[in-house]
Amino acid sequence: MNDADMPAPPFSRRDGRLHCEDVALDELAQRFGTPLYVYSRQAILDAYGRYRRALEGRPAVVCYAVKANSNLGVLGLLARAGSGFDIVSGGELARVIAAGGAASRVVFSGVGKTDAEIEAGLRAGILCFNVESDFELDNIARVAASLGRRAPVSLRVNPEIDPGTHPYIATGLKSSKFGVAYEEALALYRRASADPHLRVTGIDCHIGSQILQTPPYEQAIDRVLDLVDRLEREGVTLHHLDFGGGLGIAYRDETPPRIEQWVGAITRRVDARGYRDRTVLVEPGRSIVGPAGALLTRVIGLKGGAGGNFAIVDAAMNDQMRPALYGAWMDVQPVVAGSAAPRTLDVVGPVCESGDWLARERGLAVEAGSLLAMLSAGAYGMSMSSNYNSRCRAAEVIVDGGQAHCVRRRETIEDLMAGESLLP
Ligand code: LLP
Repeated sequence: MNDADMPAPPFSRRDGRLHCEDVALDELAQRFGTPLYVYSRQAILDAYGRYRRALEGRPAVVCYAVKANSNLGVLGLLARAGSGFDIVSGGELARVIAAGGAASRVVFSGVGKTDAEIEAGLRAGILCFNVESDFELDNIARVAASLGRRAPVSLRVNPEIDPGTHPYIATGLKSSKFGVAYEEALALYRRASADPHLRVTGIDCHIGSQILQTPPYEQAIDRVLDLVDRLEREGVTLHHLDFGGGLGIAYRDETPPRIEQWVGAITRRVDARGYRDRTVLVEPGRSIVGPAGALLTRVIGLKGGAGGNFAIVDAAMNDQMRPALYGAWMDVQPVVAGSAAPRTLDVVGPVCESGDWLARERGLAVEAGSLLAMLSAGAYGMSMSSNYNSRCRAAEVIVDGGQAHCVRRRETIEDLMAGESLLP
């Protein structure tokens, strides 16, 4: 894809006011309140479409990683576009089904699936379980036997590659808790193939997230395909090859590979090794929803003093924990460009933790009441939010052209306390 063909960015400034598609963000804040997550429908569908087109002409399923953003409105958009889904819990399976997603395009990842979750996956008729350990293979076989079914399984192999990303989101290192150790994979495949309650369908890897280069992928793909070669020689045929997700996005000045380049790196290797007839699966999350979302927050007040200058805003680490958890740099901009001179500020929330910050040392022209937008916040923002400090979670809105649809109303204190009770 050339620059000229790139879809229009979902957030743009018009007459000094930030817009999502054709809607001014200050109007959305007025109408729905803050903190508010805003997503562009078009940006989500464009990113999904780029994955689809890059895989055109071959059997393939794009399995959107639900954990990145599990709002039903978002899942529904992708389900209608024909997407598959990568899930990691029974809760995510229920969401996919509620959003109209096809269970037959669902892969179930995760290191600790319970019997109840395995049963739910089997009853729903998912595409496969991405199996992460020997004990899990046994558990799946046992639950399948008790239901009189044969469970579709794919082993998540740990290719032992350093993806060069934050240690919390690198998942394919030798020391990582994820996947089956590379040298144990063959023996486990043999065991799975011999089990009457299991049907071996594929192989899977996922080396991490926010990955900004292709070489770690290429190494991982080669390692996985080496295993596929050995399995084929033993007569174990894999129907699909799943290379996970993890493609990074630009939060600041990063230059990640384009979706087309990333997919191309996979398909070139698959084809060169003679597996063009196999179904290719990918599990992208961040690169589909991340750039499509922003978090709007209002400045409650400014606080100066010897220790620093703070803009205290109404969003906090409970709404957006990436800075607190990973030290992540997220772009924060005034929604309406003002004429005041910028000053260097830390943007912090009201939560009672010094780790509760959203942005540090930014030049911002703001005053009490100003609106700020945190950009590229559509992935791992709302889905990682919590009620810490008994804060109600934000509302979520999807913008479609000139229209805004509320896809999650703001939580109320009653919602927060709904499941609790006093002692008798
Ligand atoms: N597949 C599996 C098995 C995964 O564990 C993940 C993400 C994905 C796919 C999707 O990866 P993506 O395309 O979104 O990079 N909370 C962190 C990211 C955690 C990623 C966990 N796994 C963050 O905010 O940076």
